[in-house]
Amino acid sequence: MSIIQSIRGMHDIGPAQIPVWHFVENQIRTLVSSYAYEEIRFPILESTALFARTLGQATDIVEKEMYTFSDRNGDSLTLRPEGTAGCVRACIQEGLLHNQLQRLWYLGPMYRHERPQKGRTRQFHQFGVEVFGITGADADAEIILLAADLFKRLGILKHLRLEINSLGVSEERAAYRDALVNYFKQHLDKLDEDSLRRLETNPLRILDTKNPDLKELVDKAPVLEDHLGEVSRAHFATLCKLLDTAGIAYTINTRLVRGLDYYTHTVFEWITDSLGAQGTVCGGGRYDGLVEMLGGKSTPGVGFALGLERLIELVNQEKTITAPHPHLCILPLTDNAMGMALSIAQTLRTDVPGLRVLSLLGGGSTKNLFKRADKSGAEFALILGEEEIQSKTVTIKALRDTMAQSQWNLDDELLKFLAQQFDLTFTVETQRGNT
Ligand code: HAM
Repeated sequence: MSIIQSIRGMHDIGPAQIPVWHFVENQIRTLVSSYAYEEIRFPILESTALFARTLGQATDIVEKEMYTFSDRNGDSLTLRPEGTAGCVRACIQEGLLHNQLQRLWYLGPMYRHERPQKGRTRQFHQFGVEVFGITGADADAEIILLAADLFKRLGILKHLRLEINSLGVSEERAAYRDALVNYFKQHLDKLDEDSLRRLETNPLRILDTKNPDLKELVDKAPVLEDHLGEVSRAHFATLCKLLDTAGIAYTINTRLVRGLDYYTHTVFEWITDSLGAQGTVCGGGRYDGLVEMLGGKSTPGVGFALGLERLIELVNQEKTITAPHPHLCILPLTDNAMGMALSIAQTLRTDVPGLRVLSLLGGGSTKNLFKRADKSGAEFALILGEEEIQSKTVTIKALRDTMAQSQWNLDDELLKFLAQQFDLTFTVETQRGNT
């Protein structure tokens, strides 16, 4: 029979990769808690209209990358291509925004029908933060610092550089758009097919072109900065000052426009040269008009999302993270010992919290059981043979250095001994008190 494969661009994360995912996810949880951000979870599936309205009709995502289908009722649904739209929808619907400040984070899978390549998949995972209700650039600075803090904790800050820009407010962008269209219209013969299309739909995105033939033309194009008003300039200047004070290095990239339409004022990206073509690890910015666009009361917002696959690839370049070995293997040497083995394993797991106990199930010869115990990487074997069952004892054998063997009664002394070996706690009073 033919084997059914996963969908192109959607990858399994096997047990060997899980330890690094757990490491990164745990660092994220510790980090956001230290910033007093709260988690929000919202559905993976949303009405198509949510993304069409917020991300922009002329963006790559909405034009060609969404997983959209009709459900059994004929409603058009879309697998979320990003988290901001769903987060804002949820916050409006749950009444979390009006007259409130929110600092939120989320982590989960996103879906884009892009051409898969190294660092780019069709199912990928984002960690994102969204801050609502704060107009000042201090919120922009805080989330940039939060990202830098995560990179530092993961030991990968040296791989990343920060680029920032201001997109101003929509009127300023409209004036800039006109200036850009005028400019590019004078050079129509030099534009490629993609840029000609973008000239009609989303001229700012021409600045993002990867075509080296257009570099000179784009370099000479008008810059948005010249169209920014006083308020936008002041917002950006404050952000720069706050980043300087915090000692965060950045470059101002006047060509940074980002691929989504909802941004106002600040946009930023954390970029690496260590991953090949897909070098943007984290992207974000301010979106002061988005809540209103989705029917909520006008509320400023700023946030970012970072791609966990790209982040983890950088962590893998710095260190190898593997799953911890079990502390102890239990070896029932006869069928008779199986029941006792299961019950002892249970007692150990409950009474010595943190102790990792692997029961060697399925029987087998003594030689084979020891081979499996050795392979598991455990420090100790707990052996249960006929003799132990008769005398109601267990044999503990050190598997690594000494191979020393000792006989124990099944009582608290054994639990205390094992807890001590691994710096875990076992206190008779609390354990017994809880039962
Ligand atoms: P984005 O730039 O579209 O922004 O995505 C953020 C990050 O998600 C990227 O920098 C990248 O690391 C990762 N990413 C995106 N597409 C893929 C893919 N196909 N494969 C692997 N990784 C990918 C947003 O999504 C905005 N919602 C960010 C934001 C939050 N802005 C404000 N708040």
